Amino acid sequence: MKHETVKPPMRTDFLPFAAPLVGDDEVAGVVECLRSGWLTSGLKVKEFEKEFAAFVGSRHALAVNSCTAALHLALEAVGVRQGDEVITSPMTFTATAAVMEHLGARPILVDVDPSSLNIDPAQIESRITPRTRAIVPVHFAGQACEMDAILEIARRHGLPVVEDAAHAIPTRYHGRLIGTLGDITCFSFYATKNLTTGEGGMITTERDEYAERMRLMTLHGMSRDAWKRYTQDGSWRYEILAPGYKYNLTDVAAAIGIPQLRRCTDFLERRAAIARAYTRAFEDLDAIQTPWVRDEAEHGWHLYVIQINPEALRIDRDVFVKKLLERKIGVSVHFIPLHIHPYYRDRYGFKPEDYPNAFGAFQRIISLPIYAKMTDADVEDVIEAVRQIADENAR
Ligand SMILES: Cc1ncc(COP(=O)(O)O)c(C=O)c1O
Repeated sequence: MKHETVKPPMRTDFLPFAAPLVGDDEVAGVVECLRSGWLTSGLKVKEFEKEFAAFVGSRHALAVNSCTAALHLALEAVGVRQGDEVITSPMTFTATAAVMEHLGARPILVDVDPSSLNIDPAQIESRITPRTRAIVPVHFAGQACEMDAILEIARRHGLPVVEDAAHAIPTRYHGRLIGTLGDITCFSFYATKNLTTGEGGMITTERDEYAERMRLMTLHGMSRDAWKRYTQDGSWRYEILAPGYKYNLTDVAAAIGIPQLRRCTDFLERRAAIARAYTRAFEDLDAIQTPWVRDEAEHGWHLYVIQINPEALRIDRDVFVKKLLERKIGVSVHFIPLHIHPYYRDRYGFKPEDYPNAFGAFQRIISLPIYAKMTDADVEDVIEAVRQIADENAR
């Protein structure tokens, strides 16, 4: 049965697909930091790390300048080297696999479960070889992967699990926040993410030796960080213990991150309310499949990904997206699966059908705006636009 759609006047301004919610505390924190004279990694970063570790309940938290850096450091720390293989999902951003390439390793893609669009644990084991060095599950859209099954397979094969939690702050799995389940967890604070520092990331781990290695490699492989070198108690002398990277977060970014972290549960409440409103509004539409959710209380709702039903529509996904943009609704597609990008396709000879669930979903998915800054009117505009397009183009 179809709801009656009342055509509202179209929006006059464009609704961005994503926008940060930055308050006075972030502004004050940055100003305080600029006035303090200490701009790079220092006490603000330490404070951010401490609060983040307390929030997710992890033993260690290490702030870095992106989730890409976090993933690179994590894979290096667990021992991924030239010629190794690392298992991950095709339904992710290139960063997840690019860092494997940087280390000379080969990403081994395992297709996703068509409901969650998370890596399908049932398909992991057959892809494990003597060269497999790690498993990297990606918590797609902010919904946790089937971690019990993944961790069980990993433990049985003696493989570390590095979680790509770019979408998953805060996300729960069986009541526990993502951040302490696998061996190392990598978060993103990119501008569109649930918690932002503009650019930034955080790594959590329970293991002292991983934390120590990643801390060393974050800042040139140097035996002392800048804070220790340039303060009164410091010493100019340092030693280079490894050819490290330059992946440290600045205090300016941490000053944005601290108040963001304190509000991230409130932000989630708002996103969850938007998700509920969308699901209620689209439930009766044959043309739209709303996201599958394992547990309402655990989803981090970084993305709200609908799938259009080609049998109920005369238009394809690309036209649907174009019509949303014409109605001034910013949308996106997460993700163009890795195996159809020219680099991965040509390097590994992938065919689209090699990962039928990821490729099938790719042709139907649209990510709708979902962020704390959206007003109720914005949410209504998205709902009306989707419903109108679905109605006007129904088969
Ligand atoms: C699943 C996933 N992993 C990793 C990244 C990389 O994050 P960052 O931009 O913080 O390096 C992203 C960013 O969009 C992502 O979506």
